[in-house]
Amino acid sequence: MAGFRTDVSEWRSPTVKAIRGLITRLGRRELTVPQFQREVLRTYRGADLWTRLGPHIEDCLANRRDRILWREIKKTRDFTLQLIYLETDTAHPPHYHFNHVSTQLVMAGRMRAREYERLARITDDSVLLMPVFDGVHEVGDTMQTSEFHRNVHWFAAETEPTVFLNFNVHGLEPETFEPDTRQRKGRNAIDPTVGGNERHVVGHKIDIEKAEAKFAQRPIDDFPLIVQPERNTRPQRVSPRPRKRAA
Ligand SMILES: [Fe+2]
Repeated sequence: MAGFRTDVSEWRSPTVKAIRGLITRLGRRELTVPQFQREVLRTYRGADLWTRLGPHIEDCLANRRDRILWREIKKTRDFTLQLIYLETDTAHPPHYHFNHVSTQLVMAGRMRAREYERLARITDDSVLLMPVFDGVHEVGDTMQTSEFHRNVHWFAAETEPTVFLNFNVHGLEPETFEPDTRQRKGRNAIDPTVGGNERHVVGHKIDIEKAEAKFAQRPIDDFPLIVQPERNTRPQRVSPRPRKRAA
């Protein structure tokens, strides 16, 4: 049955335990969303992820597939930690998220990406956007999105197969950019390539099928960036090298 999802508990690890603790604290409002995002990166930095997830990353690359490491689905919230495989010359079309907090961390390969802030609603079907990143995320680079921070992005593997660690949690944002109408949990397609002015881009909501047809097999640079980011802000990083242990 399409879209049927179940709980997964594949990667029992201190990292998952730590992340579950952070989600609990976010749910109780003991952490704000920005604090939560910082704590996720801090957890990753102490987790020696490339060593611990090495066999899983190899499996994704060898078998060209994703791997769900952990998933919990509850009535009002859910979260997933997964490795996502991107085939060379394929893109995840531009999309926005509803009530969703996420971190992507490039584990292998290179991720070509554009990221946007949402500035304002124009109509039910269009949003004013501002590009904030247009470049390549290398191994160890991260993208973080939340309701009011870099909510729109578009990414692709263009030079080599790419694997990234995706962590997303739905349902815990205290307020949302738009009312909850016709929104999918998680990902909704938006086209940032058709209009704007000298300072802003107008993003038009489109069906995911149309977005796939337009963007999934095309390099991002086939589509001119309507407005250049004022400052191409570099992503936060998680070093792939294990931390030196104290003697
Ligand atoms: Fe996304």
